[in-house]
Amino acid sequence: MTQAAIDGALAAAGERAALANRAGGAIELTEVSVRFGKAGREVTALQRVSLTIAPGQFVAVLGPSGCGKSTLLNVIAGFERPRAGSVRVDGELVTEPSPRRPVVFQQHSLFPWMTALDNVAFGLRMAGDAAARERARHYLALVGLSDFAEHYPEQLSGGMQQRVGIARALAVEPAILLMDEPFGALDAQTRALMQEQLLGLWERWRHTVVFVTHDIDEAIFLADRVVVLGVKPSGLRRIVDVDVPRPRSPRARLDPTYQALYQELFGLIREESSKTFDGSRAAS
Ligand SMILES: Nc1ncnc2c1ncn2[C@@H]1O[C@H](COP(=O)(O)OP(=O)(O)OP(=O)(O)O)[C@@H](O)[C@H]1O
Ligand SMILES: [Mg+2]
Repeated sequence: MTQAAIDGALAAAGERAALANRAGGAIELTEVSVRFGKAGREVTALQRVSLTIAPGQFVAVLGPSGCGKSTLLNVIAGFERPRAGSVRVDGELVTEPSPRRPVVFQQHSLFPWMTALDNVAFGLRMAGDAAARERARHYLALVGLSDFAEHYPEQLSGGMQQRVGIARALAVEPAILLMDEPFGALDAQTRALMQEQLLGLWERWRHTVVFVTHDIDEAIFLADRVVVLGVKPSGLRRIVDVDVPRPRSPRARLDPTYQALYQELFGLIREESSKTFDGSRAAS
């Protein structure tokens, strides 16, 4: 597929999605607490987290390992129920997962018996889309895998499988896209390309994105706001606005605002990470 064909398909998809998304994509967490385990041996993953995300906003969630990033995403997705507090999407209480809020996990989760194309088309078929295969082809092209449409997952590298998983989530053109370290397993070059593709798409669609990452640079490059979670006590540490102009290219990293923000977040994450480090030493 040529670049012009991809651009044309995406423009059409953008119009469809922009229309659909005009109606929604707001997320509201109120005093959300999540604990795991039984009384006496409980782990607090989230402690009274309140957060409002406007429709169309791109929010990155940053913090050291174990601070509750995936848990936060899982309560928005509906995979996990909070012990206290509430999660609402467009005003409605979240009680279960929905195809309107697909999740891209760090590890690909493809159906091994389906080709790449059929994996991408799967959600569309479920939604009764008659043009599922055609649309799936566009999204495979977007992640650079047009030539691998008929390959089975085991015939693809791990990074390629991950890109198929991303195409599958994008293909349903959701109002909310939840991503848990989606580029974590990709090589640096592919990762940079995927970041730019995702941004290009988001600039057209303006769907709500919640993007979990360990990577400060990735968070600033992509997001409107960065939510920092901490440990001991677990919970929200800080929310910063990313006032770096859009559209962003890799040159955005030279922007003084970008660099100042990087320093600020680096200090904060380091402080939080050292708490987990000290804690594990103390426990051993
Ligand atoms: N299903 C579960 N059962 C018990 N404890 C859990 C469960 N899921 C998460 N936890 C605990 O909750 C805390 C937060 O976990 P979570 O996976 O949300 O962290 P994270 O920030 O995503 O970490 P990482 O960066 O390593 O992916 C951790 O202490 C973890 O051990
Ligand atoms: Mg995680």
